[in-house]
Amino acid sequence: MITLEDVSYSYKKWIGVSDVNLRIESGEYTYIIGPTGSGKTTLMRLIYLDLKPDSGRVLIEGLDTNKAKRRHIPKIRRRIGMIFQEYNLLEDRNLFANVALPLHVLGQPRKEIKASVDAILNELGLYSKSSHMPNELSGGEQQRACIARALVKKPDIILADEPTGNLDPITAYDLMELLDQINGRGTAIFMASHNYTLIRDRGHRIIQIQEGKLRT
Ligand SMILES: Nc1ncnc2c1ncn2[C@@H]1O[C@H](COP(=O)(O)OP(=O)(O)O)[C@@H](O)[C@H]1O
Ligand SMILES: [Mg+2]
Repeated sequence: MITLEDVSYSYKKWIGVSDVNLRIESGEYTYIIGPTGSGKTTLMRLIYLDLKPDSGRVLIEGLDTNKAKRRHIPKIRRRIGMIFQEYNLLEDRNLFANVALPLHVLGQPRKEIKASVDAILNELGLYSKSSHMPNELSGGEQQRACIARALVKKPDIILADEPTGNLDPITAYDLMELLDQINGRGTAIFMASHNYTLIRDRGHRIIQIQEGKLRT
């Protein structure tokens, strides 16, 4: 579903990633583990089409994203849900509005949006908090809100960039279980972590990254 071929990306001073080759199949669950600064976020941003490779290609469903027109990017991104360590919720609107936002951007009718958002909030146990502002939610709830915001687009894959980084161990464990459930329904997951204890023994593929290079 997602293929990276010899992908390199450098920031002005630093190497982000170099010569990355990676394939993620539909429905697959993959962890990427590596120390801080090893290139995990850079890799996620390349897949999310937030960064353009300096060289190499990112293919999504066989489509070479180097060749995609700018106006087609939102349509490709619709297939990809992204969750972050720092949640990135908009502080000036409530939970419902945060989760609804991606559907508004896609121009869906209000009624359909309401039905989809209510369903997803219900599923993630957040329905009763719909009208809460982000600062009225716990860390775990905020992270689940981000998952809801990613899932509401019904993506083929979720990119999760150190999603448990700011959670206590019990809440982090619950989140890992939730991601397993989501994957069990067919959504591929690509999750970055620097915490080996958290991801080992869960039965999913693990790839390592160090100084911008994947190690096999
Ligand atoms: N916006 C940026 N500007 C310049 N350098 C960056 C930026 N983001 C990341 N880097 C550098 O790129 C390298 C990889 O960073 P990153 O992908 O964020 O790693 P990780 O997510 O594994 O911690 C690091 O050396 C980091 O300092
Ligand atoms: Mg990172």
